[in-house]
Amino acid sequence: MDIIDIINKKRLKQELTREEISFAVNGYIDGTVKDYQMSSLLMAIVLNGMTDRESIDLTDIMLHSGDVIDLSNIDGIIVDKHSTGGVGDKVTLVFAPLLASLGIKIAKMSGRGLGHTGGTIDKLESIEGFNTKLSQEEFIKQVNDINIAIVSQSGNLVPADKKIYALRDVTGTVESIPLIASSIMSKKIASGADIIIIDLKVGSGALIKNLEDAHELSRIMVKIGEIYKKTVICMLTNMDQPLGYAVGNSLEVQESINTLKGDGPSDLLEVVISLCSIIVGAVKKISNEEAKNLLFKQLNNGEAYNKFVEFVNRQGGDINKIKISDKVIYIKSEVSGYINRIDALKIGEIVKKLGAGRNTLDDEIDYGVGIVLSKKVGDYVEKDEELLKVYMSDKDVSLNEILDCYKIDKQLDKPIKTILDIVN
Ligand code: URA
Repeated sequence: MDIIDIINKKRLKQELTREEISFAVNGYIDGTVKDYQMSSLLMAIVLNGMTDRESIDLTDIMLHSGDVIDLSNIDGIIVDKHSTGGVGDKVTLVFAPLLASLGIKIAKMSGRGLGHTGGTIDKLESIEGFNTKLSQEEFIKQVNDINIAIVSQSGNLVPADKKIYALRDVTGTVESIPLIASSIMSKKIASGADIIIIDLKVGSGALIKNLEDAHELSRIMVKIGEIYKKTVICMLTNMDQPLGYAVGNSLEVQESINTLKGDGPSDLLEVVISLCSIIVGAVKKISNEEAKNLLFKQLNNGEAYNKFVEFVNRQGGDINKIKISDKVIYIKSEVSGYINRIDALKIGEIVKKLGAGRNTLDDEIDYGVGIVLSKKVGDYVEKDEELLKVYMSDKDVSLNEILDCYKIDKQLDKPIKTILDIVN
Protein backbone atom coordinates (compact mmCIF):
# COMPACT_ATOMS: atom_id res chain seq x y z
CA MET A 1 0.00 0.00 0.00
CA ASP A 2 1.19 3.54 -0.73
CA ILE A 3 0.15 6.66 1.20
CA ILE A 4 0.26 8.72 -2.02
CA ASP A 5 -2.39 6.46 -3.60
CA ILE A 6 -4.56 6.88 -0.48
CA ILE A 7 -4.22 10.68 -0.58
CA ASN A 8 -5.04 10.70 -4.30
CA LYS A 9 -8.05 8.47 -3.77
CA LYS A 10 -9.53 10.86 -1.19
CA ARG A 11 -8.62 13.84 -3.39
CA LEU A 12 -10.73 12.20 -6.13
CA LYS A 13 -13.66 11.86 -3.65
CA GLN A 14 -13.46 8.08 -3.49
CA GLU A 15 -14.28 5.99 -0.43
CA LEU A 16 -11.25 4.62 1.47
CA THR A 17 -11.22 1.03 2.69
CA ARG A 18 -10.70 0.23 6.37
CA GLU A 19 -7.24 -1.10 5.48
CA GLU A 20 -6.29 2.17 3.78
CA ILE A 21 -7.45 4.26 6.76
CA SER A 22 -5.58 1.96 9.11
CA PHE A 23 -2.44 2.18 6.96
CA ALA A 24 -2.54 6.00 7.12
CA VAL A 25 -3.36 6.33 10.85
CA ASN A 26 -1.02 3.62 12.12
CA GLY A 27 1.70 4.71 9.70
CA TYR A 28 1.40 8.23 11.09
CA ILE A 29 1.78 6.96 14.65
CA ASP A 30 4.88 4.88 13.81
CA GLY A 31 6.41 7.64 11.69
CA THR A 32 6.34 5.92 8.28
CA VAL A 33 3.66 8.39 7.18
CA LYS A 34 5.11 11.89 7.45
CA ASP A 35 3.47 15.08 8.81
CA TYR A 36 3.16 16.57 5.32
CA GLN A 37 1.51 13.41 3.98
CA MET A 38 -0.96 13.20 6.86
CA SER A 39 -1.71 16.94 6.50
CA SER A 40 -2.49 16.40 2.85
CA LEU A 41 -4.81 13.50 3.58
CA LEU A 42 -6.54 15.46 6.35
CA MET A 43 -7.12 18.39 4.01
CA ALA A 44 -8.58 16.03 1.39
CA ILE A 45 -10.95 14.74 4.11
CA VAL A 46 -11.87 18.31 5.13
CA LEU A 47 -12.70 19.14 1.51
CA ASN A 48 -14.32 15.88 0.37
CA GLY A 49 -15.73 14.43 3.60
CA MET A 50 -16.11 10.81 4.60
CA THR A 51 -18.95 8.34 4.33
CA ASP A 52 -20.47 7.04 7.58
CA ARG A 53 -18.59 3.77 7.07
CA GLU A 54 -15.27 5.59 6.75
CA SER A 55 -16.00 7.70 9.86
CA ILE A 56 -16.92 4.57 11.84
CA ASP A 57 -13.72 2.79 10.73
CA LEU A 58 -11.59 5.84 11.50
CA THR A 59 -13.08 6.03 15.02
CA ASP A 60 -12.44 2.33 15.63
CA ILE A 61 -8.85 2.50 14.39
CA MET A 62 -8.10 5.57 16.55
CA LEU A 63 -9.86 4.01 19.58
CA HIS A 64 -7.59 0.96 19.40
CA SER A 65 -4.41 2.99 18.99
CA GLY A 66 -3.90 3.00 22.79
CA ASP A 67 -5.43 2.06 26.15
CA VAL A 68 -9.14 1.34 26.47
CA ILE A 69 -10.21 1.98 30.07
CA ASP A 70 -12.05 -0.83 31.83
CA LEU A 71 -14.57 0.59 34.30
CA SER A 72 -16.33 -2.71 34.96
CA ASN A 73 -15.18 -2.54 38.62
CA ILE A 74 -17.43 0.46 39.16
CA ASP A 75 -20.95 -0.51 40.24
CA GLY A 76 -23.88 1.08 38.46
CA ILE A 77 -24.36 3.15 35.35
CA ILE A 78 -21.38 5.40 34.59
CA VAL A 79 -21.85 8.77 32.97
CA ASP A 80 -19.35 10.83 30.99
CA LYS A 81 -19.78 14.27 29.48
CA HIS A 82 -17.96 16.03 26.69
CA SER A 83 -18.07 19.61 25.53
CA THR A 84 -16.95 20.59 22.06
CA GLY A 85 -15.46 23.70 23.68
CA GLY A 86 -16.78 27.09 24.58
CA VAL A 87 -15.98 30.35 26.33
CA GLY A 88 -16.91 30.49 30.02
CA ASP A 89 -17.84 26.82 29.78
CA LYS A 90 -17.72 25.65 33.38
CA VAL A 91 -20.63 23.20 32.96
CA THR A 92 -18.67 20.11 34.09
CA LEU A 93 -17.79 21.74 37.42
CA VAL A 94 -21.49 21.94 38.27
CA PHE A 95 -22.88 19.00 36.27
CA ALA A 96 -20.56 16.38 37.79
CA PRO A 97 -21.01 17.03 41.55
CA LEU A 98 -24.72 17.72 41.06
CA LEU A 99 -25.28 14.27 39.53
CA ALA A 100 -22.88 12.62 41.97
CA SER A 101 -24.92 14.08 44.85
CA LEU A 102 -27.84 12.00 43.53
CA GLY A 103 -25.82 8.78 43.54
CA ILE A 104 -24.98 8.84 39.81
CA LYS A 105 -21.43 7.76 38.98
CA ILE A 106 -19.23 10.26 37.15
CA ALA A 107 -15.92 8.87 35.92
CA LYS A 108 -14.50 11.60 33.78
CA MET A 109 -11.29 12.32 31.95
CA SER A 110 -10.99 15.96 30.98
CA GLY A 111 -8.68 18.07 28.89
CA ARG A 112 -6.74 21.29 29.23
CA GLY A 113 -7.68 24.45 27.39
CA LEU A 114 -6.25 24.98 23.94
CA GLY A 115 -6.98 27.88 21.61
CA HIS A 116 -9.60 30.34 22.84
CA THR A 117 -11.57 27.77 24.86
CA GLY A 118 -10.81 26.72 28.41
CA GLY A 119 -10.41 23.21 29.80
CA THR A 120 -11.80 21.62 32.96
CA ILE A 121 -8.37 20.37 34.13
CA ASP A 122 -6.93 23.91 34.15
CA LYS A 123 -9.96 25.13 36.07
CA LEU A 124 -9.62 22.39 38.69
CA GLU A 125 -5.88 23.03 38.99
CA SER A 126 -6.63 26.65 39.89
CA ILE A 127 -7.74 25.20 43.25
CA GLU A 128 -4.55 24.93 45.32
CA GLY A 129 -3.42 21.33 45.81
CA PHE A 130 -5.92 19.75 43.40
CA ASN A 131 -4.43 16.57 41.92
CA THR A 132 -5.67 15.68 38.44
CA LYS A 133 -3.42 12.64 38.08
CA LEU A 134 -4.80 9.53 39.78
CA SER A 135 -3.81 5.95 39.03
CA GLN A 136 -6.51 3.85 37.43
CA GLU A 137 -7.03 2.03 40.77
CA GLU A 138 -7.38 5.32 42.69
CA PHE A 139 -9.74 6.64 40.02
CA ILE A 140 -12.03 3.59 40.23
CA LYS A 141 -11.94 3.50 44.05
CA GLN A 142 -12.84 7.16 44.28
CA VAL A 143 -15.83 6.76 41.94
CA ASN A 144 -17.02 3.75 43.97
CA ASP A 145 -16.53 5.65 47.26
CA ILE A 146 -17.94 9.12 46.48
CA ASN A 147 -19.48 8.76 42.96
CA ILE A 148 -17.15 11.24 41.29
CA ALA A 149 -13.61 11.57 40.01
CA ILE A 150 -12.25 13.90 37.34
CA VAL A 151 -8.72 13.32 36.06
CA SER A 152 -6.59 14.44 33.17
CA GLN A 153 -6.55 12.16 30.17
CA SER A 154 -4.30 9.09 30.62
CA GLY A 155 -1.05 9.34 28.67
CA ASN A 156 -1.88 6.51 26.33
CA LEU A 157 -5.58 7.14 25.72
CA VAL A 158 -6.10 7.39 21.94
CA PRO A 159 -2.53 8.46 21.07
CA ALA A 160 -3.62 8.63 17.41
CA ASP A 161 -5.98 11.50 18.26
CA LYS A 162 -3.32 13.28 20.28
CA LYS A 163 -0.93 13.27 17.33
CA ILE A 164 -3.51 13.92 14.62
CA TYR A 165 -5.30 16.64 16.61
CA ALA A 166 -2.02 18.51 17.18
CA LEU A 167 -1.40 18.38 13.42
CA ARG A 168 -4.98 19.47 12.61
CA ASP A 169 -4.58 22.41 14.95
CA VAL A 170 -1.71 23.83 12.89
CA THR A 171 -2.83 22.86 9.37
CA GLY A 172 -6.33 24.34 9.20
CA THR A 173 -7.93 20.91 9.32
CA VAL A 174 -9.89 21.06 12.58
CA GLU A 175 -13.24 21.96 11.02
CA SER A 176 -14.39 18.68 9.51
CA ILE A 177 -17.41 16.75 10.77
CA PRO A 178 -15.95 13.22 10.27
CA LEU A 179 -12.64 14.27 11.86
CA ILE A 180 -14.36 15.91 14.85
CA ALA A 181 -16.76 12.97 15.29
CA SER A 182 -13.99 10.35 15.23
CA SER A 183 -11.76 12.44 17.51
CA ILE A 184 -14.46 12.89 20.16
CA MET A 185 -16.01 9.44 19.94
CA SER A 186 -12.72 7.51 19.99
CA LYS A 187 -11.79 9.25 23.27
CA LYS A 188 -15.22 8.89 24.83
CA ILE A 189 -15.53 5.20 24.00
CA ALA A 190 -11.97 4.51 25.18
CA SER A 191 -12.88 6.21 28.49
CA GLY A 192 -15.35 3.43 29.28
CA ALA A 193 -18.63 5.12 30.40
CA ASP A 194 -22.11 3.76 29.60
CA ILE A 195 -23.87 7.05 28.91
CA ILE A 196 -22.07 9.80 27.01
CA ILE A 197 -23.69 13.21 26.96
CA ILE A 198 -22.22 15.74 24.56
CA ASP A 199 -22.67 19.46 25.02
CA LEU A 200 -22.32 20.48 21.40
CA LYS A 201 -21.66 24.21 21.36
CA VAL A 202 -23.01 26.11 18.36
CA GLY A 203 -22.26 29.72 17.46
CA SER A 204 -19.60 32.33 16.88
CA GLY A 205 -17.51 31.23 19.88
CA ALA A 206 -17.67 27.53 18.99
CA LEU A 207 -16.05 25.14 16.55
CA ILE A 208 -19.45 24.46 14.97
CA LYS A 209 -20.95 27.69 13.70
CA ASN A 210 -24.39 26.59 12.45
CA LEU A 211 -27.25 24.26 13.34
CA GLU A 212 -27.06 22.23 10.14
CA ASP A 213 -23.49 21.13 10.84
CA ALA A 214 -24.38 20.55 14.50
CA HIS A 215 -27.20 18.18 13.50
CA GLU A 216 -24.96 16.28 11.10
CA LEU A 217 -22.20 15.93 13.73
CA SER A 218 -24.77 14.75 16.30
CA ARG A 219 -26.22 12.20 13.89
CA ILE A 220 -22.89 10.53 13.18
CA MET A 221 -21.78 10.57 16.85
CA VAL A 222 -25.05 8.92 17.96
CA LYS A 223 -24.61 6.33 15.19
CA ILE A 224 -21.02 5.58 16.26
CA GLY A 225 -22.20 5.22 19.88
CA GLU A 226 -24.82 2.63 18.85
CA ILE A 227 -22.09 0.40 17.40
CA TYR A 228 -20.37 0.25 20.82
CA LYS A 229 -23.72 -0.08 22.66
CA LYS A 230 -23.27 3.31 24.30
CA THR A 231 -26.09 5.76 24.84
CA VAL A 232 -25.01 9.02 23.20
CA ILE A 233 -27.05 12.17 23.68
CA CYS A 234 -26.09 15.44 22.00
CA MET A 235 -27.44 18.67 23.37
CA LEU A 236 -26.95 21.63 21.04
CA THR A 237 -26.31 24.75 23.13
CA ASN A 238 -25.70 28.37 22.21
CA MET A 239 -22.16 29.76 22.14
CA ASP A 240 -22.83 33.17 20.60
CA GLN A 241 -21.91 34.79 23.93
CA PRO A 242 -19.85 33.48 26.87
CA LEU A 243 -21.70 31.10 29.18
CA GLY A 244 -22.43 32.69 32.55
CA TYR A 245 -20.56 35.86 33.51
CA ALA A 246 -17.06 34.63 34.34
CA VAL A 247 -14.32 33.71 31.87
CA GLY A 248 -10.94 32.59 33.27
CA ASN A 249 -9.95 29.62 35.41
CA SER A 250 -10.34 30.69 39.07
CA LEU A 251 -13.15 33.08 38.24
CA GLU A 252 -15.07 30.22 36.63
CA VAL A 253 -14.50 27.97 39.64
CA GLN A 254 -15.90 30.73 41.86
CA GLU A 255 -18.97 31.09 39.61
CA SER A 256 -19.45 27.30 39.66
CA ILE A 257 -19.36 27.31 43.47
CA ASN A 258 -22.03 30.01 43.53
CA THR A 259 -24.12 27.95 41.11
CA LEU A 260 -23.72 24.83 43.27
CA LYS A 261 -24.98 26.91 46.19
CA GLY A 262 -28.13 27.75 44.20
CA ASP A 263 -27.02 31.18 42.99
CA GLY A 264 -25.95 30.65 39.37
CA PRO A 265 -26.42 32.64 36.17
CA SER A 266 -29.59 31.64 34.33
CA ASP A 267 -27.96 30.44 31.08
CA LEU A 268 -25.40 28.26 32.90
CA LEU A 269 -28.15 26.87 35.09
CA GLU A 270 -30.31 26.12 32.06
CA VAL A 271 -27.52 24.15 30.34
CA VAL A 272 -26.62 22.24 33.52
CA ILE A 273 -30.20 21.40 34.47
CA SER A 274 -31.12 20.38 30.90
CA LEU A 275 -28.11 18.05 30.59
CA CYS A 276 -28.50 16.60 34.09
CA SER A 277 -32.27 16.09 33.85
CA ILE A 278 -31.86 13.84 30.80
CA ILE A 279 -29.39 11.68 32.74
CA VAL A 280 -31.42 11.65 35.97
CA GLY A 281 -34.61 10.85 34.04
CA ALA A 282 -32.91 7.93 32.24
CA VAL A 283 -31.07 6.50 35.27
CA LYS A 284 -33.86 6.90 37.84
CA LYS A 285 -36.67 6.27 35.33
CA ILE A 286 -38.58 9.41 36.25
CA SER A 287 -40.09 12.19 34.12
CA ASN A 288 -37.99 15.15 33.00
CA GLU A 289 -40.08 17.43 35.22
CA GLU A 290 -39.47 15.25 38.29
CA ALA A 291 -35.77 15.09 37.45
CA LYS A 292 -35.55 18.89 37.25
CA ASN A 293 -37.28 19.30 40.61
CA LEU A 294 -34.85 16.85 42.19
CA LEU A 295 -31.86 18.71 40.72
CA PHE A 296 -33.04 22.11 41.95
CA LYS A 297 -33.57 20.58 45.39
CA GLN A 298 -29.92 19.41 45.43
CA LEU A 299 -28.73 22.91 44.53
CA ASN A 300 -30.89 24.59 47.13
CA ASN A 301 -30.34 22.21 50.05
CA GLY A 302 -26.53 22.31 49.88
CA GLU A 303 -26.08 18.65 48.83
CA ALA A 304 -24.56 19.48 45.43
CA TYR A 305 -22.12 21.96 46.96
CA ASN A 306 -21.19 19.51 49.74
CA LYS A 307 -20.43 16.88 47.09
CA PHE A 308 -18.18 19.36 45.27
CA VAL A 309 -16.26 20.09 48.48
CA GLU A 310 -15.93 16.35 49.21
CA PHE A 311 -14.66 15.74 45.67
CA VAL A 312 -12.14 18.61 45.81
CA ASN A 313 -10.85 17.51 49.23
CA ARG A 314 -10.54 13.90 48.11
CA GLN A 315 -8.33 15.01 45.21
CA GLY A 316 -6.18 17.13 47.55
CA GLY A 317 -7.61 20.57 46.81
CA ASP A 318 -8.48 23.33 49.26
CA ILE A 319 -11.66 25.15 48.31
CA ASN A 320 -10.57 28.17 50.38
CA LYS A 321 -7.43 28.60 48.31
CA ILE A 322 -8.52 29.79 44.89
CA LYS A 323 -6.33 32.66 43.80
CA ILE A 324 -8.06 35.50 41.95
CA SER A 325 -6.05 38.47 40.73
CA ASP A 326 -6.56 41.63 42.82
CA LYS A 327 -5.60 43.92 39.95
CA VAL A 328 -9.08 44.74 38.66
CA ILE A 329 -10.05 47.23 35.97
CA TYR A 330 -13.66 48.30 35.60
CA ILE A 331 -14.80 49.00 32.05
CA LYS A 332 -17.78 51.23 31.44
CA SER A 333 -20.07 51.51 28.44
CA GLU A 334 -19.46 54.47 26.13
CA VAL A 335 -23.11 54.47 25.01
CA SER A 336 -26.61 53.67 26.28
CA GLY A 337 -28.58 50.85 24.67
CA TYR A 338 -29.41 47.16 24.46
CA ILE A 339 -26.55 44.67 24.33
CA ASN A 340 -27.19 42.67 21.17
CA ARG A 341 -23.87 40.86 20.93
CA ILE A 342 -20.92 39.90 23.14
CA ASP A 343 -18.46 38.16 20.83
CA ALA A 344 -17.57 34.94 22.65
CA LEU A 345 -14.61 34.15 20.40
CA LYS A 346 -13.00 37.58 20.95
CA ILE A 347 -13.63 37.46 24.72
CA GLY A 348 -12.00 34.01 24.79
CA GLU A 349 -9.00 35.33 22.87
CA ILE A 350 -8.60 38.35 25.17
CA VAL A 351 -8.73 36.17 28.29
CA LYS A 352 -6.14 33.89 26.72
CA LYS A 353 -3.93 36.92 26.05
CA LEU A 354 -4.29 37.96 29.70
CA GLY A 355 -2.54 34.68 30.50
CA ALA A 356 -5.44 32.31 31.21
CA GLY A 357 -4.74 30.14 28.16
CA ARG A 358 -1.76 28.73 26.37
CA ASN A 359 -0.43 28.58 22.83
CA THR A 360 1.36 25.29 23.33
CA LEU A 361 0.66 22.60 25.91
CA ASP A 362 3.90 23.51 27.74
CA ASP A 363 2.99 27.17 28.39
CA GLU A 364 2.46 28.20 32.03
CA ILE A 365 -0.93 29.74 32.67
CA ASP A 366 -2.09 32.41 35.06
CA TYR A 367 -5.09 30.98 36.94
CA GLY A 368 -6.24 34.23 38.54
CA VAL A 369 -6.82 36.38 35.43
CA GLY A 370 -9.94 36.76 33.32
CA ILE A 371 -13.06 38.75 32.65
CA VAL A 372 -16.32 38.98 34.54
CA LEU A 373 -19.18 40.40 32.50
CA SER A 374 -21.58 42.70 34.30
CA LYS A 375 -24.26 42.49 31.59
CA LYS A 376 -25.33 39.84 29.10
CA VAL A 377 -27.03 39.90 25.71
CA GLY A 378 -30.53 41.33 26.06
CA ASP A 379 -29.62 43.61 29.00
CA TYR A 380 -29.89 47.40 28.83
CA VAL A 381 -26.81 49.41 29.73
CA GLU A 382 -26.60 53.13 30.48
CA LYS A 383 -23.70 55.26 29.24
CA ASP A 384 -20.92 55.10 31.89
CA GLU A 385 -22.48 52.06 33.55
CA GLU A 386 -20.14 49.09 34.19
CA LEU A 387 -19.97 46.58 31.32
CA LEU A 388 -17.33 44.23 32.68
CA LYS A 389 -14.37 43.79 35.00
CA VAL A 390 -10.93 42.68 33.84
CA TYR A 391 -8.78 40.71 36.29
CA MET A 392 -5.23 41.05 35.09
CA SER A 393 -1.63 40.53 36.13
CA ASP A 394 1.30 41.67 34.03
CA LYS A 395 -0.19 41.42 30.52
CA ASP A 396 -2.15 44.36 29.10
CA VAL A 397 -5.18 44.34 26.84
CA SER A 398 -6.54 47.28 24.90
CA LEU A 399 -9.79 48.95 25.87
CA ASN A 400 -10.83 49.18 22.21
CA GLU A 401 -10.27 45.49 21.72
CA ILE A 402 -12.63 44.80 24.62
CA LEU A 403 -15.28 47.29 23.52
CA ASP A 404 -15.16 45.77 20.02
CA CYS A 405 -16.63 42.58 21.49
CA TYR A 406 -19.89 44.44 22.11
CA LYS A 407 -22.71 45.49 19.82
CA ILE A 408 -24.96 47.96 21.64
CA ASP A 409 -28.03 49.38 19.83
CA LYS A 410 -31.12 51.44 20.54
CA GLN A 411 -33.30 48.46 19.56
CA LEU A 412 -33.27 45.00 21.08
CA ASP A 413 -32.62 42.17 18.56
CA LYS A 414 -34.36 38.81 18.72
CA PRO A 415 -33.52 37.11 22.07
CA ILE A 416 -31.02 34.27 21.87
CA LYS A 417 -32.03 30.75 22.91
CA THR A 418 -29.68 28.81 25.21
CA ILE A 419 -30.76 25.23 24.40
CA LEU A 420 -31.08 24.77 20.64
CA ASP A 421 -31.93 21.08 20.28
CA ILE A 422 -31.41 17.58 21.66
CA VAL A 423 -30.40 14.66 19.42
CA ASN A 424 -30.30 11.04 20.60
N1 URA B 1 -12.96 18.27 20.37
C1 URA B 1 -12.26 17.13 20.16
O1 URA B 1 -11.99 16.37 21.09
N2 URA B 1 -11.86 16.85 18.91
C2 URA B 1 -12.13 17.64 17.85
O2 URA B 1 -11.77 17.31 16.74
C3 URA B 1 -12.86 18.80 18.09
C4 URA B 1 -13.27 19.10 19.36
